[in-house]
Amino acid sequence: MNNTLEGKVALVTGGGRGIGAAVATRLAEEGADVALTFHRDRRRADEVVDRIRAMGRRATAVRADSADPGEVVAAVDRAAGELGRLDILVNNAGAFLLGSLEQLRPEDFDRTVAVNVRAPFVASQAAVRHMAAGGRIVTIGSNMAERTPFPGFALYAMSKTALVGLTRALGRELGGRAITVNLVNPGPTDTDSNPADGPNAGAIGGLTALGRYAEPAEVAAAVAFLAGPDGRYVTGATINVDGGFAI
Ligand SMILES: NC(=O)c1ccc[n+]([C@@H]2O[C@H](COP(=O)([O-])OP(=O)(O)OC[C@H]3O[C@@H](n4cnc5c(N)ncnc54)[C@H](OP(=O)(O)O)[C@@H]3O)[C@@H](O)[C@H]2O)c1
Repeated sequence: MNNTLEGKVALVTGGGRGIGAAVATRLAEEGADVALTFHRDRRRADEVVDRIRAMGRRATAVRADSADPGEVVAAVDRAAGELGRLDILVNNAGAFLLGSLEQLRPEDFDRTVAVNVRAPFVASQAAVRHMAAGGRIVTIGSNMAERTPFPGFALYAMSKTALVGLTRALGRELGGRAITVNLVNPGPTDTDSNPADGPNAGAIGGLTALGRYAEPAEVAAAVAFLAGPDGRYVTGATINVDGGFAI
């Protein structure tokens, strides 16, 4: 334990599984108390909460569908209310709707934008009402915003690219309040939505320079840096944690 985040409170959306669970755990290892949201899988979210509490940190899980702006705002306010403050927001929950141009429906468009773009916007808006100087917003984007080597990613890549602009603009806007805003673009990462033993994993991992998938903890390490004191002069940045996928 490093205690760089001792006394801080973090909220991680979609913190019950995958990258979000690794981020929630890592921030707690650094000393933060952590609230996390989940959508459907309460059991996995409760397991992360139990793991964090076993480290001696406070933790809570809140059900909130990121597609619903009211639920997102309520989750932010509940996290700050239950844990007493809010210093770090990690926008992690994402919708991964793939299909050809002809297959994708308007409702797929709406859901992708609602979960991947509107939710980070709305959560940031709600979070800064609670944040003091030193606050941190970190959003999880995607390597698909940098390079799109497969068909079927129109909505996903579009939404993750929008986060680059949102991050820059909010970094500019909140700089005067000493709140930093950054984007972490993971490459292929071994989670339920992109398992490293999945049918196309060899081809996907092969597009990275390092020739392999990331472990969720490797993405969480970048988030912890940005959320911690050493990240204080980084804002509006997009950081690729992608094993060289984009180069
Ligand atoms: N894995 C990769 O290769 C990869 C690569 C680049 C970027 N990313 C990005 O990394 C982030 C996390 O992905 P992951 O691979 O860790 O996903 P994952 O293992 O499938 O987990 C998704 C998490 O997000 C939550 N979630 C999904 N939809 C939600 C909604 N509408 N409202 C609230 N929570 C919701 C899930 O909650 P429940 O458990 O309740 O369902 C779960 O905790 C996403 O933004 C994704 O786009 C992933």
